Amino acid sequence: MEKEWVNPLLSDSDTRMLRVASPCGLVLFGITGDLSKNKILPAIYDLSHRGLLPASFTLIGVARPKASIPNLAAWVEDAIRDGAKTGIDETALSQLMAGFRVVEGDYDSPETFCQLNAALSAAEKERGTGGNYAFYLAIPPTLFPQVLTELKEADLDNHDHGWRRVVIEKPFGNDLRSAQELDRIVTDVFDESSIFRIDHYLGKETVQNILALRFANELFEPIWNNAHVDHVQITMAEDIGIGSRAGYYDGVGAARDVIQNHLLQLLALIAMEEPTSFEADALRREKEKVLTATHLFGNAGNSSVFAQYASGWQGGENVRSYLDEDGVSPDSRTDTYAALRLGIDTRRWAGVPFYLRAGKRLGRRVTEVALEFRRPPFLPFTDEQAAGMGSNTLVIRIQPDEGVTFRFASKVPGAQMLLRDVTMDFGYGHAFTEYAPEAYERLILDVLLGEPPLFPRQTEVELSWKLVDQVTNYWENSSRPLETYEPGSWGPLASDAMLGQDGRTWRRP
Ligand code: BG6
Repeated sequence: MEKEWVNPLLSDSDTRMLRVASPCGLVLFGITGDLSKNKILPAIYDLSHRGLLPASFTLIGVARPKASIPNLAAWVEDAIRDGAKTGIDETALSQLMAGFRVVEGDYDSPETFCQLNAALSAAEKERGTGGNYAFYLAIPPTLFPQVLTELKEADLDNHDHGWRRVVIEKPFGNDLRSAQELDRIVTDVFDESSIFRIDHYLGKETVQNILALRFANELFEPIWNNAHVDHVQITMAEDIGIGSRAGYYDGVGAARDVIQNHLLQLLALIAMEEPTSFEADALRREKEKVLTATHLFGNAGNSSVFAQYASGWQGGENVRSYLDEDGVSPDSRTDTYAALRLGIDTRRWAGVPFYLRAGKRLGRRVTEVALEFRRPPFLPFTDEQAAGMGSNTLVIRIQPDEGVTFRFASKVPGAQMLLRDVTMDFGYGHAFTEYAPEAYERLILDVLLGEPPLFPRQTEVELSWKLVDQVTNYWENSSRPLETYEPGSWGPLASDAMLGQDGRTWRRP
């Protein structure tokens, strides 16, 4: 067996802190897809480069013949060179590639799985994987049933020694009913403890930091409630359009693509009660409780907005409207922007609206959570003195420019008592020198280590669909026209009006 490669860049103390995976392999279905190319392969290399994968680690790509990439190993290397965050070390790369295998075949052919079985056994003998394998389904959900059925038929789902796990990517279904059907299919093959559902937002450092910010500090939790918080805004804005993803996106839309998962997970972490520990069960239980209590603040008509981007100028480029994008049906009612007004029926949050918005082709790429606090019950200042002052706001910047900002009023220097808002800022870039792993690095490592806290459980998925289904059903069955918005703007007027009815406005992040 090969000697373990240890990254010479790591100090002894770094190495002691590391959580290193034990002997194992990863079987990647959909290895030639965008997700694999842009995220999964670079993350695997970065893990390997950082010394977090065992020397025996074996990557087995399953590719359909029609992917027709003549030299898949060279293609994988290119993807790694393009996407790696930790820089290319030729020794580390060739060590990883020495453990790369390919199985080519259709996903519905038993022959493919027979070959896969042989490849897994060979890798166990040659490389010492211990029979431990994770099957990563980076493929469209429509293909899940056939792959899972064949894995079961070929008896690859379990092994007399070693573990078998399955990784599935969001979206988990398209609505509550299909999510339940998908779960039935997956749990028919793998037991719950071997299923890892990836919502990559949970792998982000800044998202995990919500738990640290709330529960490691004395300052925030006492005011984290309806006595002090006026409302919460969660924004996930992207400046890109749908690019070449019409095949996936059209008919899905922003509410299903990112609100059902990423944004509702953020809401759950912000609003949940303190878990008794950060073990998977304790954490998931609290998220489930708060998602159960979450509902539309009014009805779908006055608490949701769906819209599509129009054509226009964005960043010096004349961009197409959504309906003109390649592959989009000309009468599509798919939302490229969605906003929701939610409430949470708990003692802590009763009466506090949570406004969520997500969209493509908006002003800039930014994801943030902003808690806007109430104004003090009494202000010993004149209106004129307080004119420059807003409300205290805590902004958790998920990305980019990761950090936390607190806005509060201060006296403007000078002979008068004039107030103006100032900010106190924590930025990851300034505060830490440590390497911040990409979400996929963290999540893939957790799969290989068998650690589930950062993966949502089926109940969370279903509770989120229950909420989003109400809104998508309303828009799918309503004759209300879909508003459009200018590329590079902050969304449609109807969204401003949704907050306007509460006397509030969206932040300009
Ligand atoms: C994915 C969505 O889950 O998240 C994409 O399917 C979106 O539509 C992407 O672009 C954004 O991820 P991130 O990490 O760049 O915010």
